[in-house]
Amino acid sequence: MSWQRIEMAKEGENAAPGPPLAPGEKRAVRVGDQELLVLRLGDEYFAVSNRCTHAAWPLTNEPVDGMEIVCTLHGARFDVRDGCPTGGPASKPLASYPIELRDEQLYVRF
Ligand code: FES
Repeated sequence: MSWQRIEMAKEGENAAPGPPLAPGEKRAVRVGDQELLVLRLGDEYFAVSNRCTHAAWPLTNEPVDGMEIVCTLHGARFDVRDGCPTGGPASKPLASYPIELRDEQLYVRF
């Protein structure tokens, strides 16, 4: 396993100075062949796979309720701290990855 920097700037944009996400913000990013959802809740960052484990719905635009992301397609809920399902039809966890902020850059470990 190794740490990889997450490119947070959208295509065609330069990275803005400052923290990569505002509190409560989330963004889908691609690191290698992985599609991740990166979230900032308070001052903590989390990285999980961006596809619901029930029927692969993308979680990019789904609501966050406390520490849970809610897949509104059928109602699955996942704890973003470890990816574990907390409700609804999903029984498998989202993959979750260690993530660190270093000098205003995010790094994820695979
Ligand atoms: S695809 Fe997410 S709950 Fe069914």
